[in-house]
Amino acid sequence: MTKTLTIRRPDDWHLHLRDGAMLRAVLPETTAHFARAIIMPNLFPPVVTFAQAQDYHARILAALPEGAEFTPLMALYLTEDTDPDDVAAAHASGLVHAVKLYPAGATTNSASGVANFDTIRAVLERMAEIGLPLCVHGEVTDDDIDIFDREAVFIDRVLDPIRQATPGLRVVMEHITTRNAVDYATAQDDTLGATITTHHLVINRNHILAGGIKPHYYCLPVAKREEHRLALRAAATSGDARFFLGTDSAPHTDANKLLPCGCAGCFTATNTMSILAHVFEEEQALERLEGFASLNGPAFYRLPVNETRLTLTKTPATFPSHIETEDGPVTVFDPGFVPNWTVV
Ligand code: DOR
Ligand code: ZN
Repeated sequence: MTKTLTIRRPDDWHLHLRDGAMLRAVLPETTAHFARAIIMPNLFPPVVTFAQAQDYHARILAALPEGAEFTPLMALYLTEDTDPDDVAAAHASGLVHAVKLYPAGATTNSASGVANFDTIRAVLERMAEIGLPLCVHGEVTDDDIDIFDREAVFIDRVLDPIRQATPGLRVVMEHITTRNAVDYATAQDDTLGATITTHHLVINRNHILAGGIKPHYYCLPVAKREEHRLALRAAATSGDARFFLGTDSAPHTDANKLLPCGCAGCFTATNTMSILAHVFEEEQALERLEGFASLNGPAFYRLPVNETRLTLTKTPATFPSHIETEDGPVTVFDPGFVPNWTVV
């Protein structure tokens, strides 16, 4: 008999859906498996205010495939001019579940992000008061810091000082990529959570750079050395409730990935659950997949777990190499192996 695994329906605590034709093309890939997702606000222009989040929320609902049951959890893009009252109103409405901190210049559409962290003090204090999580893209942007060190340096220079200065602020370290981040997260209290992507459990920096340059494996934060990938796998499969799934599935057309200065992002919405089941089984932790993908996230965000279920069978998974969009094809992340598990 084929082995099956049934878990509570998972959520994606870090997702890029974009807008317009791209939104329509990628949204069904997520709603096929996930009940909710924190929607990244790095559109151009970014989703800064409550009013902008309401509009974007409406556009996502309008793009939902027929019959899909999916709740977009909106996030506001933090700028140096963000109004604490607007943030509090957004949170009180129940529509907005996080505020996203992009250090200015760190990644795709982060130009409106924060350069001077002193300017966001009042917003952070209000967020600590009302219990609204801050999602952090944790990389410094200084030219003189090596790109492979930018996460570790951010923890020391920016993240820890912010947390020390703002007791009670609830923070999610997003898409962590280093042992340093795992160690830091593990040493904190329950005001800190950390998301881990699917692709960072699978690739290290050799996948990007050895044997020819592979733009489809380029994302930010960039994948690090093997020892860091192993630390991420240990954290994700440990059962520690601080770690949960945020895919950072980030669609870009192939044309935009394959440029001399190509975009950062791996598109994993389509095959994330199969790959995760494969990875968790390899780590002899299949029974912990539900915690990572379906339980720990809601606990951190103080939301109920999903009542519906997702079932996978132990059958080799097949996926399209890319999905079609009106803007051109988007390549689906290739894990470099055939995942042993298929979502039914
Ligand atoms: O690889 C990434 N892609 N990392 C990010 O932080 C942003 C994302 C995007 O929006 O494309
Ligand atoms: Zn992201």
